[in-house]
Amino acid sequence: MSSEAAARAGEDVENVRSFFDQWAIYRRVIERNYLFHREAYAELDRVLGGFGGRAVSVLDLGSGDASYMAEVLARHAVAAYRGVDISPVALSLARENVGRLGCPAEFTQGDFFALVPTLREAADFVYIGLSLHHLPLADKGRFLADLRRVVKPGGCLMVCEPICRAGESRSAVLDRWWDIVSRKWTALSAEDMAAVKGHVFGNDYPESIDTYDALGRAAGFAPVAVRFTCPDELYAVLEFRPAAGLG
Ligand SMILES: C[S@@+](CC[C@H](N)C(=O)[O-])C[C@H]1O[C@@H](n2cnc3c(N)ncnc32)[C@H](O)[C@@H]1O
Repeated sequence: MSSEAAARAGEDVENVRSFFDQWAIYRRVIERNYLFHREAYAELDRVLGGFGGRAVSVLDLGSGDASYMAEVLARHAVAAYRGVDISPVALSLARENVGRLGCPAEFTQGDFFALVPTLREAADFVYIGLSLHHLPLADKGRFLADLRRVVKPGGCLMVCEPICRAGESRSAVLDRWWDIVSRKWTALSAEDMAAVKGHVFGNDYPESIDTYDALGRAAGFAPVAVRFTCPDELYAVLEFRPAAGLG
């Protein structure tokens, strides 16, 4: 576990919002599948298929434009969708994308770390795509316990997050990330790459899968299921189910 992460207090919400308000850069990243959205959302599709056709309630934390989410949800019965994001730019795009599904939908602009502890209703399917890693280690643990409370019995929490290898420090994984990304993300301009690098080095706190597993168990989830790990071991899709007896 990273002591650098443990030393930091909270997410720099303003900084993160101003980065994602420039949605065009992130759009270019996801269109090229640099963050493995195709593989990640294919896993969401499989897990939603496991609800056996029953209409599910969905809580999408850090929804972004919800473009991939809307494509997946179009193949399933959705009782209700709630998207939460700090970026008004991203959220207005999410409203358009999810609006086409015609299911009951609600959009909240705000910090999900503050919002989740106040939620009264649990959801069948809770997803966090690429924003849990902004929290330092201790806050991730506290937040997973809050998340456990908003997952309905029989439901699940899925996350797609940057990871590090067991024992890899924050600075080592960020240097490894930049070494790979600076060679592979060729569709971005030098200016965009500088913005992406600044965002990641300023805000990202990846954890190992073992750490996520330990945090999940401490929060009342069963051992984590690893649904996907990208070839460079930089991103993974994890599934947390309520531990038996606590569901
Ligand atoms: C990397 S994007 C991912 C978007 C989408 N989930 C996806 O899979 O493409 C992260 C999103 O989380 C939002 N975000 C980051 N921290 C947040 C927070 N504390 N509360 C709400 N939204 C947050 C950002 O504004 C951004 O839209």
